[in-house]
Amino acid sequence: MRDAAPQTIHLADYTPPNWLVTGVHLTFRLDPTRTRVLSRIGFAPNPDAASRAFKLDGENMTLIRAKIDGVEVAPTVTETGLTCDVPDGPFTWEAEVEINPSANTALEGLYMSSGMYCTQCEAEGFRKITYYPDRPDVMAVFDVRIEGGEPVMLSNGNPGKIGDGFAEWHDPWPKPAYLFALVAGRLVNHPGKFTTMSGREVDLNIWVRPGDEGKCAFGMEALKASMRWDEEVYGREYDLDLFNIVAVDDFNMGAMENKGLNIFNSSCVLASPETSTDANFEQIEAIIAHEYFHNWTGNRITCRDWFQLCLKEGLTVFRDAQFTSDLRSAPVKRIEDVIALRARQFREDNGPLAHPVRPQSFVEINNFYTATVYEKGAEVIGMLKTLVGDAAWSKALALYFDRHDGQACTIEDWLRVFEDVTGRDLAQFKRWYEHAGTPRLTVTENFKDGTYTLHFKQETPPTPGQPDKPPRVIPIQVGLLAEDGTEIVPTRLLEMTEAEQSFEFSGLDARPIPSILRGFSAPVILRRETSNAERAFLLAHDTDPFNKWEAGRALAREGLIAMIRDGAPADPAYIAAAETMARDESLDPAFRALALGLPTQDDLAQALHDAGTVPDPQAIWDALEALKDARAEAMEGTARALYAQHQVTAPYRPDAAQSGARALANAALAMLTRRDGGAAAQAQYDAADNMTQQLAALACLLQAGKGDLALGRFYDQWQKDRLVVDKWFSLQVACAEPADAADVAERLTRHPDFTMKNPNRFRATLGALAGSPAGFHHASGKGYRLLADWLIRLDPLNPQTTARMCSAFETWRRYDADRQALIEAELRRIEASPGLSRDTGEMVGRILA
Ligand code: PHE
Ligand code: ZN
Repeated sequence: MRDAAPQTIHLADYTPPNWLVTGVHLTFRLDPTRTRVLSRIGFAPNPDAASRAFKLDGENMTLIRAKIDGVEVAPTVTETGLTCDVPDGPFTWEAEVEINPSANTALEGLYMSSGMYCTQCEAEGFRKITYYPDRPDVMAVFDVRIEGGEPVMLSNGNPGKIGDGFAEWHDPWPKPAYLFALVAGRLVNHPGKFTTMSGREVDLNIWVRPGDEGKCAFGMEALKASMRWDEEVYGREYDLDLFNIVAVDDFNMGAMENKGLNIFNSSCVLASPETSTDANFEQIEAIIAHEYFHNWTGNRITCRDWFQLCLKEGLTVFRDAQFTSDLRSAPVKRIEDVIALRARQFREDNGPLAHPVRPQSFVEINNFYTATVYEKGAEVIGMLKTLVGDAAWSKALALYFDRHDGQACTIEDWLRVFEDVTGRDLAQFKRWYEHAGTPRLTVTENFKDGTYTLHFKQETPPTPGQPDKPPRVIPIQVGLLAEDGTEIVPTRLLEMTEAEQSFEFSGLDARPIPSILRGFSAPVILRRETSNAERAFLLAHDTDPFNKWEAGRALAREGLIAMIRDGAPADPAYIAAAETMARDESLDPAFRALALGLPTQDDLAQALHDAGTVPDPQAIWDALEALKDARAEAMEGTARALYAQHQVTAPYRPDAAQSGARALANAALAMLTRRDGGAAAQAQYDAADNMTQQLAALACLLQAGKGDLALGRFYDQWQKDRLVVDKWFSLQVACAEPADAADVAERLTRHPDFTMKNPNRFRATLGALAGSPAGFHHASGKGYRLLADWLIRLDPLNPQTTARMCSAFETWRRYDADRQALIEAELRRIEASPGLSRDTGEMVGRILA
């Protein structure tokens, strides 16, 4: 049942734990429905605590018995934990509890996935395994014994005794309970080895279900590359004899950094050329790196409390982005990240779910694993690095690892390291952690007597609970170009600290053309009155690849907005610029493919809303289609040439060069399909020997309305591969006409392969609908209704995934009164569902507020 009044937890109320844990011994007697967990935990009073009251967290379990120092006790047990009278000094707590992994559809705690046992403890899942002080500032050494005769039985740390029907594990590194993991079942491993910088041999394994062995090689190489990179760039060495990764089919998130035993959503680790796209490969490489990098940023140094989540996540996302930039193309990675930031974080930051990178309160912490904490958290780290410079950054990181190893830390600890290294006061910088909302940065300019002045004004709109926004420090990278395209002032860092501020460049012969916010040096919305001619100039001449791309994107966006708002025809200047850029062989094909991308429907809706126009999702869709048609017509010859020139003939490799070529060829194919009715796409589909080309061709055929045959063949070919079937589900929804998308999704929920118990499949179907704005926002309201129906059904089984998907509705106040009324009715219907989870209740409440 719903909690009578879900409690709000505040950062300001933090107090240290009353009791510290001196050691943990766990014995698991595995059984699908009646697993017994025996715990023996050493407790000692915390000298920093004001009280010795003893409370352990615990949910969804039956207490069989409890002892203190060997004597049976009778604790007071509630729905959320227990309290007990305890001695004044150190004591040993023992408990035996029973839990039911088979009944655990929330996928938090110990659960079953495809017949195997696995765990997910972050953030507060360990309390579903046994009674414990389940908070990250309680760190302890864990010993684990698993009994149950499963062929493979894994836990954190290094292996101990392994015998008939049992396995023992010892993790020498003190850790919070959220990093605990256990996996047991019929698994096979793909082995590897890594020799660390100090010469220690580490055994590596990727554990998968039998049949998936062939999809591990890429992940293994990515793991080794990550281990090497963290040594070379940050001097961080791995610290156990063994590193295990396990692939699990049913998982709420992408992956989890449990100490020495990372658990992955199988979609985020399994890869093969036949079943994974180039984008999948790049993402898998990044996630493996991300989880591995957590070993130092997250595990060795962890968070004091969950408000500090960005301490580990922002930094680790920043580190994985550096890794991808080093291994692949830095400009391409930056552009991809900004596209994703604008799509997910700006959307969040400019709506009812906006919250600071370090939130000040929450009801359910699972609702704060957000684009703001992760992606904006990483942007904040990037700005800090820009402001202090590379040398100070390296010194500060070395000091951070040295000073805080083994500790549970705060953002204050993190910033103090930088203050100590640089002597700088970071009080104003800290506002990036404390204030929600995307700053608007308005630029005006002036040129007089050889002096060029840039005047900036920053304003951040109010966000929930934060009406007033003080000015932040904003690092603005600027370069200046001459009219002939030469760069007269190379990239310079302007440090804006005031609400309004001017910067001067003197000694210039003529008015320059500015390239502002190079590399997207701050997560802000830049506003500048400028001409399309100047945008086209920057697209042609800017030496900063990000701003070059940005100029093209702005040109496309302005043209689209004119089409949507004023019924203007497609802008020939944009098409000409796009064509010139697409043919420019001095540019990386991956960059050209990105530059041929168009603003998303959601980008355009937000831009229209910002400009005071109520967005019409169908009109946005129509404008995008019209522009794509006009561009395909104008660029037909170029598209044909690009398609021919960028065919990869070498054996498939998922590297940056080959995937860039395929991306450009597929962008050309999409244009060609608008001209040839799908002939080239059908040929590519028939000849494809890799998923990148097969799926791109299928998408083209579906969009051309010629996909039925290929769709059937695709299913017949891949019906045994869950991850490919997910693609089959989502593509049909994503490629549907707006009027059909909800019906297609609804039909797919009746397909025998649909199950709401698997989060990947649920997202592939209903998430794909939420991600197709024109279809989701169809004026009939059928998209809203279908999603709400399924969220109501899923909530009792899996509150976490339900709550996350409620964000589909977060933009509702942008739309017209009719749509707002339809959405509000669906949100109220969800809110009124009997027994609604705390997770979903919090999300719906915040969206409606
Ligand atoms: N900590 C995980 C990661 O970033 C994400 C995660 C959170 C996974 C909560 C599961 C549950 O890398
Ligand atoms: Zn992470």
